Amino acid sequence: MLLRLTILPGDGIGAEVTEQAVLVLQAVADVFGHQLELQQKLIGGAALAAANDPLPADTIQACLSSSAVLLGAVGSPAFDHYPRQQRPEAGLLRLRRELGAYANLRPAVCFPSLITSSPLRAELIRGTDIMIVRELLGGLYFGEPRSISGEAGARVAINTMTYDEPSVERIARVAFDLGMKRRRRVLSVDKANVLECSRLWREVVTRCSKDYPVVQLSHMYVDSAAMSLVQHPRDFDVVLTENMFGDILSDQAGGVVGSLGLLASASIGGKVWLYEPVHGSAPDIAGKGIANPLGAILSAAMLLRHSFQLENEAACIENAVNETLNQGFRTADLARGTDKTVSTSAMGHQVVETVKKAALKERLA
Ligand code: IPM
Ligand code: MG
Repeated sequence: MLLRLTILPGDGIGAEVTEQAVLVLQAVADVFGHQLELQQKLIGGAALAAANDPLPADTIQACLSSSAVLLGAVGSPAFDHYPRQQRPEAGLLRLRRELGAYANLRPAVCFPSLITSSPLRAELIRGTDIMIVRELLGGLYFGEPRSISGEAGARVAINTMTYDEPSVERIARVAFDLGMKRRRRVLSVDKANVLECSRLWREVVTRCSKDYPVVQLSHMYVDSAAMSLVQHPRDFDVVLTENMFGDILSDQAGGVVGSLGLLASASIGGKVWLYEPVHGSAPDIAGKGIANPLGAILSAAMLLRHSFQLENEAACIENAVNETLNQGFRTADLARGTDKTVSTSAMGHQVVETVKKAALKERLA
C-alpha cells in the first residue's frame, strides 16, 4: 500500500517526537511491505517565524492532498503576547476546521508495566482503558461573538459556547459506534445543571442512544466526572464530551495513567484525518532530547488503523511499545524512584528494534 502522509512537526518537542514516530512508521512499512511517501510542512510557531502565518496555504494544500496527517505539537512562549490569530494555536485550530476534524479520539490506557508510574494506587489503576471522544469543532473554541473590548481597567472579554443539534448528534454517533466495539458503555459528560448548551447536548445524546439499545448510556456533570476519574478510572469506557471539557479531562486522564506523554489522538470525521500526541509543545523540555515519543508513536499506530485500516500494523506498533515498556525503558516523565531513564531517540530506537524483531519472529514461525 502507498501511504501518502503530511508530517507537521510544529513547535517545541513536536519535532523530536515526530522524528521518532516517522522512524517507527518507516520500520513498520518496511516490515509489512508498504511504501511511505512523506512531505513535511510548517505549522504553529515554526510557520509564524518562517511565513508570518501559523497555517500557511501550502501546509493546508499538502494536508488536503495526502491520505493522513501526523502532527507533533504547536505552541511557543515566543508568541504569547501576539493577538489570538497570530498565535501558534490558531494554526492548529484552523487546521482542524479546514480538515473538518470534528471527532477527537483520545484513548487513555494503563500499560501493565507502568502501574507504578501512576500517582494512583495499583488496585485503582490496573486495567484502566478509557476512550475519550471529544467534540473538536464547536463550543467555546469557535463560538462567536468573541472579543476583548472597552477602556483599559474596565475591559470586557466575551467567549461564546454554542452547539447545534447536528453537531451534537454526529459526535454522539461516533461515541456510540465506538461503544459498540468496546465494553458498550458511554458516559456523556456535560454541565446540564447550569448550561443551555449542555441541556441540548444531553437531550440529543439521549435521543441518539435509542438507536444503540445495547449500549448503556449514563450522564455526569463535568465536575463530578473529574472526581470520579481519579477515584474509579476503571469504571470509564467511552467518555463523550464537548470541546473544552474534553481538553481538560484528557490531560487529567494522561496524569491518571502515568504521563500525558503516553497519550495519542486521532481527529477524524473530515476530509483527511489528523493524528497527534495529546501532550503539546512542552517548551520547558524542548531540545533536550528527554521528551517521551510514545504519544507520537502511538498516534502513528492510530493513523495506520483509522486512515488505512492496517490493523495488524497498528497492533504491531502498540505491542512494540508495550514490550519496550516491559523491558524497563523509561523516559524521564515515566521514571519513578531509581528507574534509569533513556532519551527520546533511545526510546524510539527501542520501539523500532522491537518492531523488527517481532517481524523476524513471525517470519521464522
Ligand atoms: C490539545 C491542545 C490544544 C487544544 C491547544 C494547543 C490549542 O491543548 O490538543 O488538547 O486546546 O485543543
Ligand atoms: Mg489540551
